Amino acid sequence: MRAVRAGAGGGPETLVLEDLPDPEAGPGEVVLDVAAAGLNRADLLQRQGHYPPPPGASDVLGMECSGTVAAVGEGVDGWSVGDQACALLAAGGYATRVAVPQGQLLPVPEGVSLVDAASLPEVAATVWSNVWMTARLAEGESLLVHGGAGGIGTFAIQLAAALGHRVLTTAGSEEKRELCRSLGAEVAIDYHEEDFVEVVKGLGGVDVILDNMGAKYLARNVDALAESGRLVVIGMQGGVKAELDLGALLRKRGSVIATTLRSRPTEQKAAICAEVVEHVWPLVSSGRVRTLVHEKIPLEEAGRAHALMESGSHSGKILLIA
Ligand SMILES: NC(=O)c1ccc[n+]([C@@H]2O[C@H](COP(=O)([O-])OP(=O)(O)OC[C@H]3O[C@@H](n4cnc5c(N)ncnc54)[C@H](OP(=O)(O)O)[C@@H]3O)[C@@H](O)[C@H]2O)c1
Repeated sequence: MRAVRAGAGGGPETLVLEDLPDPEAGPGEVVLDVAAAGLNRADLLQRQGHYPPPPGASDVLGMECSGTVAAVGEGVDGWSVGDQACALLAAGGYATRVAVPQGQLLPVPEGVSLVDAASLPEVAATVWSNVWMTARLAEGESLLVHGGAGGIGTFAIQLAAALGHRVLTTAGSEEKRELCRSLGAEVAIDYHEEDFVEVVKGLGGVDVILDNMGAKYLARNVDALAESGRLVVIGMQGGVKAELDLGALLRKRGSVIATTLRSRPTEQKAAICAEVVEHVWPLVSSGRVRTLVHEKIPLEEAGRAHALMESGSHSGKILLIA
């Protein structure tokens, strides 16, 4: 197969396509001929040497892909050679072939092309598992999505709006805020010029926050929570260490949760994928939640794709075409 490994750390120019041995379908696994792979912000960190893959996972980049089943391992049922699928991966998506545990394979939602399906597994699994399975966003509750125009953000806004929640968001440019509003955000806050806490508190606070900033926003996020609110930190773009006033959290009976999807055991990933297919795929198939693909870039230009994501000028997802 041809594949892009993370290498020893460095800039986007260090990403090169190499010939590597083909993966084999082990017990409970399926091998996909990859059509496309989705880029995720964590891929940039891994390339820079700050985010190693989980133990036992390959050093080929890529946490999601779509493709056609090329081989089926022992004990796999429900999948046959020639089936189309998308997949949540621990690693290995930036390649022409990848082995996937059966529980992390998802059908391509009706109405979505095989290539565009590569944009879905990581965002759908991250947003569903954090906002609904962990923070338990309930009927009538509101959600604040930081970074609403990114891959995670565009999906979170649409899903919460489609399920009837009031959605607030932050974004860095008027064009991106307009996109967020068009996806269903009631309020889009300029994170450069406005104090999101002031805006959110003016509206009575929010029940759940999906946060990509970590340390930089910790105290302000807690301030913006309504009573019994839940802050779920999934990114550390604003650093890893901060002080937390436990009194502020305690008075509103709030919770701070931090999770990562990649290091979860395969059984948990399988349970999340099953919920995604049950709850999220029908909304994607009906067109109420759309895939938002910013650009499709050939796999051999993975470095250009990383530079694009690093520039922050994209909205939605960037795909690599195998
Ligand atoms: N824990 C997990 O399991 C998990 C899984 C997937 C992703 N993540 C995390 O989720 C985050 C988003 O990932 P992605 O793949 O969607 O990346 P992405 O498309 O590059 O999105 C990054 C977002 O960060 C926003 N941002 C930058 N500075 C900000 C600020 N000061 N305030 C608010 N937002 C700001 C950007 O907003 P503008 O474009 O408007 O500037 C952009 O929307 C990353 O931190 C990633 O590591 C975590």
